[in-house]
Amino acid sequence: MNFDLSEEHLAVKEAARDFAQNILKPGVIERDNEQRFPEAEIKQLAELGFMGMMVDPKYGGSGMDTLSYVLAMEEISKVDASTSVCMSVNNSLVCWGLEKFGSEEQKQKYLIPLATGEKIGAFCLSEPEAGSDATSQKTTAIDMGDHYLLNGTKNWITNGSSASVYLVIAQTDVEAGHKGINAFIIERGMEGFVVGAKEDKMGIRGSDTHTLLFNDVKVPKENRIGEDGFGFKFAMKVLSGGRIGIAAQALGIAGGALELSTAYSKERKAFGKEISKHQAIAFKLADMATEVEAAKMLVYRSALDKDQGRNYDQSSAMAKLYASKVAMEQTVEAVQIHGGYGFVKEYHVERFMRDAKITQIYEGTTEVQKIVISRNLLKG
Ligand code: CAA
Repeated sequence: MNFDLSEEHLAVKEAARDFAQNILKPGVIERDNEQRFPEAEIKQLAELGFMGMMVDPKYGGSGMDTLSYVLAMEEISKVDASTSVCMSVNNSLVCWGLEKFGSEEQKQKYLIPLATGEKIGAFCLSEPEAGSDATSQKTTAIDMGDHYLLNGTKNWITNGSSASVYLVIAQTDVEAGHKGINAFIIERGMEGFVVGAKEDKMGIRGSDTHTLLFNDVKVPKENRIGEDGFGFKFAMKVLSGGRIGIAAQALGIAGGALELSTAYSKERKAFGKEISKHQAIAFKLADMATEVEAAKMLVYRSALDKDQGRNYDQSSAMAKLYASKVAMEQTVEAVQIHGGYGFVKEYHVERFMRDAKITQIYEGTTEVQKIVISRNLLKG
């Protein structure tokens, strides 16, 4: 077993860190305050090749492995989780899903502009009544012979207004349960497709989360992904990889909180010495560092499972379950270490605490991860 990162992995980590600290950090508080999407910053991320990191270069991607993607997600999330969620959805839900399961025609038409970052993608599964219970889709796509007719509403869609390519999960045969679900590629501008209200969120406020409405949208037959009835499995497979990305995001948020807390506690003095020299603070830092390191092992391990061709359904759920818990708990501690300064925006950690919460909710709640883990554990 080798815990050392390769030269290539270290270079990706360094490039992402440099970008996060120098490009993202200066405007991150303002974007959070104004709920402003990081449009210019995402373009720069694309120039670095970070919007299609794992995509084959023949489809416009960077041809990197999952561990590289995780390292980049981690460094970017140490500063700006709003930017990293946009990156994560584009990379591991949309690009990966299209490359793995799309037709050659779909890859030429949609994957290439998504992987180069010319376009942004969104993944549309959640509905008002189908969040964790993903089989209960109410959005329908009725086969009309030469096209599907799509009707319904999707909720909490990341990249809702910034995307121009949407992977939409819909029921094509209501009687058939999860076997009657399909995934479709929908383009911005298709008649009957409306981007609805933007959510006013507690965290990741720079990302644009919207309701989407589909009203008699004519979807060409060739826009269905995979065989008829493959949509639910498509969603589950895509989400297994997506969870590695969100686990890396949570790891980054926790790691960022640790870095800031360590630096602050060496500067801030109380009762005649730096607060890091008080055991109450030193022990908190020790706990934070240990938890972050443990989360890192699970996240990197899951990335390696994927890269080395092993099943990663369970390891990605474990990584997300644990890293998101660490992010939530340790960002609360970071605010505590910062005291009054932790409660104001200038010191960043209050944003980390708000951003951390969503990592326990999206791409499957904490409870969903436990369903996945326990089913894997108990089967066979
Ligand atoms: N790979 C392949 N197939 C899979 C699979 C996987 N990882 N997981 C399940 N399946 C298959 C099962 O084998 C089964 O197929 P068969 O009947 O042929 O055997 C079928 O799918 C149904 O599986 P389950 O019976 O396990 O399904 P379930 O209804 O009990 O649901 C669940 C299980 C894990 C709770 C699932 O519904 C789930 O993951 N829910 C959470 C959805 C989610 O993550 N939503 C996030 C939205 S996207 C998002 O958040 C993006 C963003 O904005 C950042």
